[in-house]
Amino acid sequence: MESINKLRNKWGVGVIQFWLIIATFALGGSLSGYLNKKVLNLVFEEKNAAYWVFYPIVLTILWPFSVILVSFVTGQFLFFKGYLGRVLGRLFGGAGKPTDKKVTPAAATNPTHIAIFASGAGSNALKIIEHFENTDKSRTPIKVSLIVCNVPTAGVLNIAKEKGIPTLLINKAEFNETGYVQSLQNADIHFIVLAGFLWKVPEVLVNAYPKAIVNIHPALLPNYGGKGMYGSHVHDAIIAAGETESGITIHWVDAHYDEGDIIFQAKCTIQSGDTPEVLANKIHALEHAHFAPTIEKILLS
Ligand code: GAR
Repeated sequence: MESINKLRNKWGVGVIQFWLIIATFALGGSLSGYLNKKVLNLVFEEKNAAYWVFYPIVLTILWPFSVILVSFVTGQFLFFKGYLGRVLGRLFGGAGKPTDKKVTPAAATNPTHIAIFASGAGSNALKIIEHFENTDKSRTPIKVSLIVCNVPTAGVLNIAKEKGIPTLLINKAEFNETGYVQSLQNADIHFIVLAGFLWKVPEVLVNAYPKAIVNIHPALLPNYGGKGMYGSHVHDAIIAAGETESGITIHWVDAHYDEGDIIFQAKCTIQSGDTPEVLANKIHALEHAHFAPTIEKILLS
């Protein structure tokens, strides 16, 4: 049972999908065995030595086609498209996905695909999208390829629409169970940016993207972080505490709120009389100036 759960976590799929995938493997395997015999019987009159030489070769060729065929029936085409892509990539010496090889995205020669997770207005998402639109593609093959959102009315979805970037609307139960790892891998995502995303990232997703998920927090962590500390709540608390400075923190994401290693911080001063709204504007200005360049630095380092 433990090894089943391990495999399920690795694939990032729920229980029902897991068994549909197993059924697809089993039925696809049987189908390729059946077709293999039919093909070989057409070519060879008897089961001689050549028959047995060709047996595994033809079987290996037929197997992916059979599995893909069956995956249409079981509704698992997207999983097997990604799975076979990765297996074939490894077999024929392709780079594979960084998440498979556990290397940093900067090692990829093809464009690095970023997914931005956001729950709100998306001003940071927009800055990041524009930053990578405007950089020299030959030196900086980085692209925002997916917007992941958990709020159907969030402004970030309009930004995605205007920019023609695909979106993935997620629900909490499935996010906690699967981390949507399969959907992210099918979209070829190498790197994840949390830009105003308010759910805790489940372990299954953290494990699938080691050192490839960053978050921005509107305060100087480790102060004013943790569950419930987001957006205006952070600024309210900082002003109420009479702080004279605040700032932003960009950090790696682990399975705890706002606790991953810090990558970058920038500060701003708080004048007496500054309201939470004034502070929010100062923080947004810092975020807009530093988030995209910091992501670029990480990806190119
Ligand atoms: C940003 O200020 C970001 O730091 C904060 O949400 C805001 C999103 O603004 N994130 C958190 O509070 C996470 N704990 P945006 O939607 O305009 O980019």
